[in-house]
Parts: sequence; C-alpha cells; structure tokens
Amino acid sequence: MKAKMNISATLKDIAVRVDQAIVNYCDQYLIGPDRLLQAMRYSLLAGGKRIRPALVLLNAELCGGSQADAMIPAVAIEMIHTFSLIHDDLPAMDNDDFRRGKPTNHKMFGEAMAILAGDALQTFAFELIGDHYNGPADRKAKLMTELARATGPAGMTGGQVLDMTFGQEEWTLAAVEKIHLLKTAALIRCACRMGAICAGAEEAEYDIISEYGLKIGLTFQIVDDYLDQTSSEGAMGKGVGKDAAHGKPNYALLAGSPAAAWQRATELVDEAKNALVPFGESAETLQELAEVILKRRS
Ligand code: IPE
Ligand code: IPE
Ligand code: MG
Ligand code: MG
Ligand code: MG
Repeated sequence: MKAKMNISATLKDIAVRVDQAIVNYCDQYLIGPDRLLQAMRYSLLAGGKRIRPALVLLNAELCGGSQADAMIPAVAIEMIHTFSLIHDDLPAMDNDDFRRGKPTNHKMFGEAMAILAGDALQTFAFELIGDHYNGPADRKAKLMTELARATGPAGMTGGQVLDMTFGQEEWTLAAVEKIHLLKTAALIRCACRMGAICAGAEEAEYDIISEYGLKIGLTFQIVDDYLDQTSSEGAMGKGVGKDAAHGKPNYALLAGSPAAAWQRATELVDEAKNALVPFGESAETLQELAEVILKRRS
C-alpha cells in the first residue's frame, strides 16, 4: 500500500503540479498581445497557496475519480481566483500595493492592463474547460455552469459588491457572514463541487461536499480577517491592518476581538470535518486540510 503523505507534503506536491500545469497550459493555449500575457502570467505565477485547485483535486479523488482528470478545472478555478485578486486590489476597490509577496498587478502594469488581465483570466478559465476538459460532455457543461454561478452576481462578484457598499451602520456578524459566504465561500465550495463533478459523484455526495465547502469557505475568510488583524506583511505577502484602515467589513473587528473570530472559525471547522464523516477514512486528508485553513499563518 502507498504510504499516506502528511497534509503539508500533500499540499506542497499539489502546488508544484498545479504550478507546472499553469505554465504548460499558458505556454500551449494562451494567445494575445505580449503585455497582456505578461500581466496575466505575473499574477498567476506569483506564488499563491493553490488551495482551490487542491480542493478540486482532493474532492475528485474522494469521490473515486483521478487527480489527473481534474487538473484542467483545478487550473481554471485558480485563474478565476487570480482574476478576483487582481480586481480586488485595484484603487477603485481595496487599493492595495502588495500581493503574493510582490507589487500588485496595477502597480506593475497600470490600472487599465490590470483590469484587462483580470477580464482575460476570467474568460480563459472557461475557454480552458471548453477546449481541453476531456471528460463527458454533461460534466463539462456542469463544470462551466458551476464555475460561472460561483463567480458571478450570486457568488464572488455579488459578495464583492456587498463588501464595497456595506455601510458601517449595517455591521452585524450575521451580515458580515453573508458577505463572506458570497465573496469567498462560494468559490471555495465551487472548487469542492467541481472535484465531485469530475468524478461523477452521487447526489448524496454533492450535498456532503457542498456543506464541507461552504463551512471551510466561511472559515477561510474569517481567518483572513483574523490574520489581517494579527499577522504581518512579511508573513502574508500582502498588506495587513488594511480592513480597519479602510473601514472594510472584517469579522475579527466586528466580533470584538481576534480570539472571538477564531472561536467561530474553530466551530465551523469542526462542523466541516463532521460533515465528511460518512466518507470514513478516505476523508482524512480533506479533514486535515480544514485544520490547515484554520491554523494557517499566511
Ligand atoms: C486571498 O486568497 C483572498 C481571500 C479570499 C481571502 P488566498 O489566501 O487563497 O490567496 P493566495 O491564492 O494564496 O494568494
Ligand atoms: C477578498 O477579500 C475576497 C475576494 C473575493 C478577492 P479581501 O479583500 O479580504 O482579500 P485580501 O485580504 O485583499 O486578500
Ligand atoms: Mg476586498
Ligand atoms: Mg482585498
Ligand atoms: Mg483580507
């Protein structure tokens, strides 16, 4: 029997393979003006944690599929995520200068090119699935619809709108959770569901995986808010303390203390891990990944 890797080795191994796949797909399929391609590659290859691709690959495996068959959707969702970060950092949004340990896209390439690089990453994600996903046609269609829904007005984009327009007089923990469910958890849940789609999962499996995805997705943004309060720019590769400075909805600020936010994140991770119990031992890696999301320092 193959020895089981520990979770940090598993994530490292996936990140290496995802980075390689991003380079390969860009080299083979990305066509356009040089400056645009440079801007796209700059942010894509700046070194993200690749958590969403890992969720696609590990959920595919959990449902009896192979990681190799899920690599195109895994890379596609990382392109969507990277587009969301480029636009999130723009002066019209969070106005940030530092991302993934480097100057933000608009600092390097200018605002117009950053907007266009984000647009092009979004469409390239769907082109990749359309042209190169090798599974059955019904799964391809489901992957595209799922990704579009999680990215659009009922998902990440809708959440970013609430994040931008939310007045401080409306700040309640429930309202902030709603924003976080849309702006961050929708795409993380989508990563889990895309893995299940690649494997042709049973209906009952989708329900379990969706619950897990939503709970770790909400955890992910609560921990991001916690780290914005408690971590450093060096550790995070992006600015910290920026939510308080810009009056942005931040769970840790609103909960009264970072410790109170951490408490909520701990409960959510327990719920997420429990949701996977019907899968038995084969869910161990994803249960450990939920802990990594809680305990991460970057
Ligand atoms: C940052 O996401 C944006 C949020 C949703 C909080 P990640 O923390 O996954 O960023 P990268 O991909 O590792 O840079
Ligand atoms: C971003 O939330 C969520 C996205 C949809 C990109 P934040 O604005 O808190 O993310 P960071 O802290 O800039 O990475
Ligand atoms: Mg933001
Ligand atoms: Mg931001
Ligand atoms: Mg943040």
